[in-house]
Amino acid sequence: MRIFVIGNGAREHALLNAFSTDPQVTELHVAPGNVGMESIATLHQVVADDPEAVVSLSDALVPDLVVIGPEVPLVAGVADAVRAAGYPVFGPNADAAQIEGSKAFAKDVMQAAGVKTAHAEAIQPDATGEQIDAAIDNFGPNWVVKDDGLAAGKGVVVTQDRAEARAHAVDVLSAGNPVLLESFLDGPEVSLFCLVDGETVVPLVPAQDHKRVGEGDTGPNTGGMGAYAPLDWLPENAVQRIVDEVCIPVASEMSKRGAPFQGLLYAGLAWGSDGPSVIEFNCRFGDPETQAVLALLESSLAEALLAAATGKLAEHPELQWKDGYALTVVLASLGYPAATRTGDVITGAEPGREVDGVLHAGTKRNDNGEIISAGGRVLNVIGVGSTLEEARNSAYDTLKSISLDGSHFRGDIALPAVEGRISIPE
Ligand code: AMP
Ligand code: GLY
Repeated sequence: MRIFVIGNGAREHALLNAFSTDPQVTELHVAPGNVGMESIATLHQVVADDPEAVVSLSDALVPDLVVIGPEVPLVAGVADAVRAAGYPVFGPNADAAQIEGSKAFAKDVMQAAGVKTAHAEAIQPDATGEQIDAAIDNFGPNWVVKDDGLAAGKGVVVTQDRAEARAHAVDVLSAGNPVLLESFLDGPEVSLFCLVDGETVVPLVPAQDHKRVGEGDTGPNTGGMGAYAPLDWLPENAVQRIVDEVCIPVASEMSKRGAPFQGLLYAGLAWGSDGPSVIEFNCRFGDPETQAVLALLESSLAEALLAAATGKLAEHPELQWKDGYALTVVLASLGYPAATRTGDVITGAEPGREVDGVLHAGTKRNDNGEIISAGGRVLNVIGVGSTLEEARNSAYDTLKSISLDGSHFRGDIALPAVEGRISIPE
């Protein structure tokens, strides 16, 4: 099988890594990719969110499967174009990608499908100061203020400080975007990824992301600083409940609207006293959770994604998982997520280290051929073990072999779970 992956982060590196050990996969291509992928895939310098450019590269490669990693090309219609050109695509068309691209659209689908989620109110960019104040006063004492557009997880402020909530709303509105205010959902967070081919929904193992930049969940939200899987603290039937109460109703509602979802439906949930409530949907694999989840997958990822892309998930054999736990720790640049310094030399991350669990996100080569940081989230380091503690030790040990000036990471990924500190509200 010849597979063409679109994207350039650690999520795409994890996808390629899983494909690279699959005996059915003969060739791997990626656009644009990153230097870490050089030893397992052929890199192509194509603008990943330009549908025409991606179709012409597909025509040259004639792939058996195209896998689109990030949300931006999906929302831009790259899947529509590649599908129309006749190639099987894992990733939704633009209309279905609105489940992530527009929070208002997602709320509307959830309401129609009877799915539990936070109560929300929109503020439009032309709102007056009084209207903004009135809307803010409808919420609290925990305010959740969101940018209603693609913001890579960074457009959300959750705060008990009314002034901070108002200031974020004004910032988003003055950039011309609507704001969504939401009621606060209590309970630990779960990311559940489901393969969907329109109607059939196949869950992967549940994971938990660590969104805040600082240890102990402090500081601003990021794209994700680390993740682990599976989640022992969830009730036994939790995955089935999420599938039945959230993912199947949403997939059915989208089909009913003529926007069937084909690809990866990511349900971001809070597990509260009466079970799962949706925080958000994404239309693609989560980053960094995917890096942990795929480290546990035993079945062929290529076959499973092809089954989803060709509407054959119902016939696909049940996915098999390794026993044990996996964890990923993100190594971030100085200053991330605010002002990020790039261009620092990295040692210990030569291509080929995916076998040790070293995946690249924001990296490139400088003129001397050295690998340097080129983004906020620079590397991901994966650990696997028979216990979560072992997985943690393994990842943090590997991190010691890497150096990047000024970089930072969270030392407490999965620690609350290891220490039994995660509790579901009564
Ligand atoms: P989002 O981009 O919508 O996933 O939000 C980013 C993060 O903000 C989530 O992972 C949660 O940690 C937090 N968050 C968003 N919405 C809510 C909510 N309604 N209640 C509690 N926390 C939330
Ligand atoms: N880990 C959060 C996301 O992928 O949006």
